[in-house]
Amino acid sequence: MKIFIDTADINEIREANDYGLIDGVTTNPTLISKAQKDGKKFIDIASEILKTVNGPVSLEVVGTKSEDMVEQAVKLHNLGSNAVIKIPMTLEGLKAMKILRQKNIPVNTTLIFNTVQALLAARNGAAYVSPFVGRLDDIAEDGMSIINQIKTVFSNYGFKTEILVASVRNPVHVLRAALIGADAITIPFDVIKKLAMHPKTDEGLSRFLDDWKKVAPDGSLPL
Ligand code: E4P
Repeated sequence: MKIFIDTADINEIREANDYGLIDGVTTNPTLISKAQKDGKKFIDIASEILKTVNGPVSLEVVGTKSEDMVEQAVKLHNLGSNAVIKIPMTLEGLKAMKILRQKNIPVNTTLIFNTVQALLAARNGAAYVSPFVGRLDDIAEDGMSIINQIKTVFSNYGFKTEILVASVRNPVHVLRAALIGADAITIPFDVIKKLAMHPKTDEGLSRFLDDWKKVAPDGSLPL
């Protein structure tokens, strides 16, 4: 399963990249607005992320008419060859996807909340669909259940569109996505850090290091 980081914060991206875990990045207007707090321009944030990451970086349009979406998509894609354009799942978005497919600009269809929306995006040639599992959980639906359904539908028809699990809130979302066999998942930085943690790991390491001090009181490894 590919792991993307769900942030526009360059420091988080760099640190997660150092863990060797990052295959790509997803952003959205909310995440960009948080990264812009220190006065950075959108174009500088986007360009820096595109340069830093050796993988797809999703950047979202904010137009609501298909022609505006296409115009913004072309400009965003010109910022870097690894730019993937997030288009919302609307009727206007579908029109834009059709045009972007002809232009060979890869699309990540965003704001997917059910399986038929994912089917439409795949038919229109989206490179990725982003089902928002956490926001479905928020309204007492089992978000992850649509990942299973989408996987079945894509397999039924041989779609190449990748399922990118989005709106991830906790390590159990990651576990369930991996058990289902989702192609990719985009994870916020705080959840990425939690994935490596276990209290028994901390306890075990602490005991090993205490015992080692009986061998080498300064904790060194005499080689
Ligand atoms: C990523 O593509 C989505 O924009 C993001 O995962 C949404 O997450 P949220 O529901 O926590 O805002």
